[in-house]
Amino acid sequence: MGLLLATPRARAARALRRLVHDPGSPLAGRTVLVTGASSGIGEATALAVARAGATVLLVARRPEELERVRQEIEETGGRAAAYPCDLTDGDAVDTLVAQVLAAHGAVDYLVNNAGRSIRRSLDLTQDRFHDFERTMAINYFGPVRLTMGLLPAMREQGFGHVVNVLSWGVQMKAPKFSAYLASKTALDTWSRIAGRETYGDGVTFTNIRFSLVRTAMSAPTEAYAGRGASPEQAAARVVRALEDRPVTVNTPAGDVGELLNILAPRLSDWLFHRFDAMFPDSRAARGE
Ligand SMILES: NC(=O)c1ccc[n+]([C@@H]2O[C@H](COP(=O)([O-])OP(=O)(O)OC[C@H]3O[C@@H](n4cnc5c(N)ncnc54)[C@H](OP(=O)(O)O)[C@@H]3O)[C@@H](O)[C@H]2O)c1
Repeated sequence: MGLLLATPRARAARALRRLVHDPGSPLAGRTVLVTGASSGIGEATALAVARAGATVLLVARRPEELERVRQEIEETGGRAAAYPCDLTDGDAVDTLVAQVLAAHGAVDYLVNNAGRSIRRSLDLTQDRFHDFERTMAINYFGPVRLTMGLLPAMREQGFGHVVNVLSWGVQMKAPKFSAYLASKTALDTWSRIAGRETYGDGVTFTNIRFSLVRTAMSAPTEAYAGRGASPEQAAARVVRALEDRPVTVNTPAGDVGELLNILAPRLSDWLFHRFDAMFPDSRAARGE
């Protein structure tokens, strides 16, 4: 689906590479910054991007985990640098941007992957306004501040691509995810609009709306146990989005959910309400 939406130039470049049997990736020799590179989808993406020949800038809070990923990349002949940063701290993000630009010049590709998911019903959220604040801080304000910091240099060099790791829930509007999905939807919408403004400067955005991936994030929800794609499968889709630069990468189920929301919104409400009743709040959401 996403491929159908790839920019014509990116599709033509991919076709040309296949035609001349050139296995090379457009990421080779480029600088790619991946947030949330200390685990899960971000770690797998960092490793895959390094294998494609890019210099990877690893960002997350835990320095020892970033160092582990950096060493793994360098031991296999890749290039990487670690930048520990709490993306919810605005000053820290500004410092990160200054450090990265000074050391590497313009970043060619940015993967806004760091995130926090909360699956909790409204009932349990009643006295937890911080659920809304925390998800906005890491899923929206952090990536917007980082992207805004890196955009001017991308625009000046006439090239840049930003991939946002989002959720199919932005299309589905799944119950119990109101805090999480509102913050992901904010980034989805912001990027879509930003991309229209930067299009003329060669800077583009992709919104990937993933379904379930087996990571530390999905683990606390008992209903998800053992389900979903592997981090490596998800990373392969991120790499493809970096290479092809489609506007969105969706799942068929996400597209069906979005269509149902448009064509029959009350039917959609009824179906989701019935479905949701089958899956109560997890023990983690209840604080057990
Ligand atoms: N797993 C799924 O089913 C699924 C589905 C759709 C979308 N997603 C999205 O995929 C992305 C990656 O999640 P994942 O599943 O790979 O989970 P994960 O393994 O828990 O990874 C989350 C990453 O975000 C980083 N992070 C969290 N808060 C941060 C902060 N304040 N500053 C900097 N980095 C921070 C974490 O690193 P530190 O703890 O070291 O900071 C970690 O590297 C998220 O945006 C998530 O919403 C996941």
